[in-house]
Amino acid sequence: MSKVSTSSKVTILDLQQMKAENRKITMLTAYDYTMARLVDAAGVDVVLVGDSLGMVVQGHANTIPVTLEQMIYHGKCVARGLRRAHLVVDMPFMSYHSAAQALENAARVLREGGAESIKLEGGVEAAPIIRAISQCGIPVMAHIGLTPQSVHALGGFKVQGRDAVEAARLREDARAVEEAGAYAVVVEGVPMELAEEITSSLSIPTIGIGAGVGCDGQVLVLNDLLGLDEDFKPKFVKRYAGLHGSVVDAVKEYLTEVRGGVFPDEAHSFRGRRERDGAVRASAVRLTA
Ligand code: KIV
Repeated sequence: MSKVSTSSKVTILDLQQMKAENRKITMLTAYDYTMARLVDAAGVDVVLVGDSLGMVVQGHANTIPVTLEQMIYHGKCVARGLRRAHLVVDMPFMSYHSAAQALENAARVLREGGAESIKLEGGVEAAPIIRAISQCGIPVMAHIGLTPQSVHALGGFKVQGRDAVEAARLREDARAVEEAGAYAVVVEGVPMELAEEITSSLSIPTIGIGAGVGCDGQVLVLNDLLGLDEDFKPKFVKRYAGLHGSVVDAVKEYLTEVRGGVFPDEAHSFRGRRERDGAVRASAVRLTA
């Protein structure tokens, strides 16, 4: 793997400066060390350990089953892979529904999970929690619009803010999270005109997903961008690679070679003598014969 960037860490102040200078913020999810290293090496600004891991990694139908312990575990894995990108970790379902509970859990996500900020879902109703957490010195990224933890209350994964009443509510949500002290806000599943209007009304950066080009930045789930799930094709996702096919082809080639006695060949096997630099290791470390 190529060497990761050694330039200094992206901070929430850098992200706010990027908005002021009209430079787009890039954000992607990662759930493990390997992918974290890859996206960091590519130069992404923010890495999100999203509770979307409940769907992408765990195979659930929504994000509701994800626990705080799981977010902390994945946060730790990702934190080890980052040199430059800012690390934000999602607070999972029902982990921030009183100020006291939210503070305790947010502190664990930073202290144990390696996060540099936390993200939580909700607008006007989440404002007191956002205020309590950010007043303790923990930066909060808010998340409004299509908030997946409320999938049952919303009646499904539906675009929000399409009629005048919903649009007015979203404008209030945006204002409320900014006033409560959020340093940025994810705007998900919102008509592009409304997302652009919200973006220009706020002094904090908006990060869009399914919200058009008028936001200050964009976020996607890495697995979607890489085309790892052939069956998942929502309108807002652009696939920049088709890794599903590449992975299946590589695995099929391996199966054929193992079944045909072609792999492992001489070049990938050891002879029965001691290695120059020590005993043969049983692990898959690459040793020259
Ligand atoms: O959990 C997640 O990955 C998210 C992004 C899609 C914004 O919240």
